[in-house]
Order: sequence, then structure tokens, then C-alpha cells
Amino acid sequence: MIAKIEELLRRVEDFRPKAEAEIEEFRIKLLGKKGEITALMDQFRTVAPEMKRELGQKINTLKSAALDRINSLKEEISAASAAGGGTDDLTRPGTNDYPGSRHPISIVRNEMVEIFARLGYTVADGPEIEDDWHVFSALNFPEDHPARDMQDTFFIEKNPDILLRTHTSSIQVRVMETQKPPIRVICPGRVFRNEAISSRSHCIFHQVEGLYIDRNVSFADLKQSLLYFAKKMFGEDSKIRLRPSFFPFTEPSAEMDVSCNLCGGKGCNVCKGTGWLEILGCGMVDPNVLEACGIDSNEYTGFAFGMGIERIAMLKFGVRDIRLFFENDVRFLRQFAPAL
Ligand code: DAH
Repeated sequence: MIAKIEELLRRVEDFRPKAEAEIEEFRIKLLGKKGEITALMDQFRTVAPEMKRELGQKINTLKSAALDRINSLKEEISAASAAGGGTDDLTRPGTNDYPGSRHPISIVRNEMVEIFARLGYTVADGPEIEDDWHVFSALNFPEDHPARDMQDTFFIEKNPDILLRTHTSSIQVRVMETQKPPIRVICPGRVFRNEAISSRSHCIFHQVEGLYIDRNVSFADLKQSLLYFAKKMFGEDSKIRLRPSFFPFTEPSAEMDVSCNLCGGKGCNVCKGTGWLEILGCGMVDPNVLEACGIDSNEYTGFAFGMGIERIAMLKFGVRDIRLFFENDVRFLRQFAPAL
């Protein structure tokens, strides 16, 4: 009997199953109703009393060794299958989990906010659904201005007119109405225009508006601030030029061009051979606008500017089609993710 116990103990120790099913088979073979260890225990009842102590211990040791071995083999197998079956080819290339990243429009917007923050500008916000006063009237738009046309602007209600803001300049009105100069704000936001006339134009885009009001603010301050912005956004070699223009809310008004950062000003197909790219509108805030917002135009002057974020992002990243910003194609967006 002792020889049998020792043989069984060795079999338990040497047991190396190749498949999970073999473990259960092994258990039944040893510990099942007709199992070999079970049979030993039956036999044990008939052994001489003086042998009982020693044999009993040996059988118990064998039984628990068998149970331990079976249980630990079962655990090993189920842990391996939870980890992928244990048959994984560890040299196979891993699957790529791309972390999320900011949308290029957000990247550029944040960069603008950061650049102007260094000049002391803080961020101001306003509603996307606006009234006529904040979008047009306070900004000196005449009654019959074409922007008030249903064809250009999405109206939600007429009389009184409620509409989707067509520019972020509405935020400068809200800031001037509620804050006392000195005022230095930057207003990023979404704007809406009824421009579905061509498949290339888009009804929604993003703008950043800037406003600076204080005593003795001059056109030179405007030019210097915008030159600083252009250098930080497009590189220290950037130059700017201001061309006379017209906006109802500024006088004088200008469009600003930045030297083409793709050809360095020599002329290429992006700048259409001119070496310059138009990026924003600006000017000295019209005294009528200051007065409409409750600011004394004899005491204060100021400048304002506004630009489209898509346009800046296209020039900065060399994006040729504005629609890419709205399609949310991950193949496009992934290119702006930080390197892993
Ligand atoms: N609001 C103008 C637009 O949507 C952009 C603009 C031009 C804003 C000149 C300004 C400015 O503040 O001074 O086209």
C-alpha cells in the first residue's frame, strides 16, 4: 500500500496536462468515486490498527497534494485564457490605440488666446443666439445693410429680430456695455452665415474678435499689437501690411495681410503670386459705437480687430480645403495629435 501511495504521489507531481480537459480526467481518475485514491481510502479501513496512524497521514498527504495540484493547474489555465489564451504571438505588432487630440481649430484658438494673453488680453464670451442690437445696430450698421438680409443671416424670429450671430463683434458690444475702460478682451466663438451658395463655403465657422479701449489708444498701438501677433503666430520673420478698407463699426478701417509664410514673400500659388495673405479686418472703434455702448468717445478711443480661425489654421498648417475642419475624418484630425 505504501508503494502505491508513493507511486501516486509521483504521478501527481509529474502530471503535466496539455489541455484543460486532461485535468478533470486526472481528477476523476484519482479522486472520483472509482478513483485510485478513493480506493486507497476504502482499503485503509481494513488495515491493522498499528499501521493506521502512519498510513492515514500518508494518504492524507497524497490527497491534499493531488487536490492542490489540480486546483493550481486549473487556476493557471484560466488565468492564461483571460490573458489571451496563452497562445499569443508576442512578437506580433500591437494594436494602435490613438489617444484623443485637440481639433486643429481648438489648437489655433488656444494659441491665439495665449498670444494675446501675453499682451494683457482676457477672454470674453457671449451668446450664439443674439438680437439685432448686439450684432448690427450697436455696431453702426445702417437699416438697409445687406448683412441684415435673410439671404445672409439666419433669423430665428423677426420683429424683434433674433438671429444667429454673424460675427463675434457682438461680444465687444456686450463687453463695452458692462465693463468700464480700460478694456482689453479677446472673444473667440462660433459664427453663422447663410452662405450655402457654393459647396465650398460653410454656414458655420469660427472667429476671434479683439478689443482694446483706453485713453490715448492710437492706430500705432493697433499696428504694433497685430505685428506682435503675426510674428508669434507665423514666425518672427513675418511682416504685415495694412490696406484701407471699410467696416461700419470702425473708422478708419483696414484689412491686414501677413507675408506669405509658405514662400517667404516671394510669391507662390497659395498667396497667388503676391507674397501676401489677407488674414483679418481691423480699425479704430467708431465713436458712434462707443457712444451706443455707453462709453464717452471724447475721453476714450480704442481699436478692434476680427479674424477667422479656419483661415489662420489653413495658412498655419497648409490645409487646402476648409471642409476638412468639419468632416471629422480621423485620418485628417490625427495629423494634429502630439507625437506618441
Ligand atoms: N466683424 C468682421 C467680420 O465678421 C471682422 C472685423 C473687422 C471685426 C474689423 C472687427 C474689426 O472688430 O475692427 O467680417
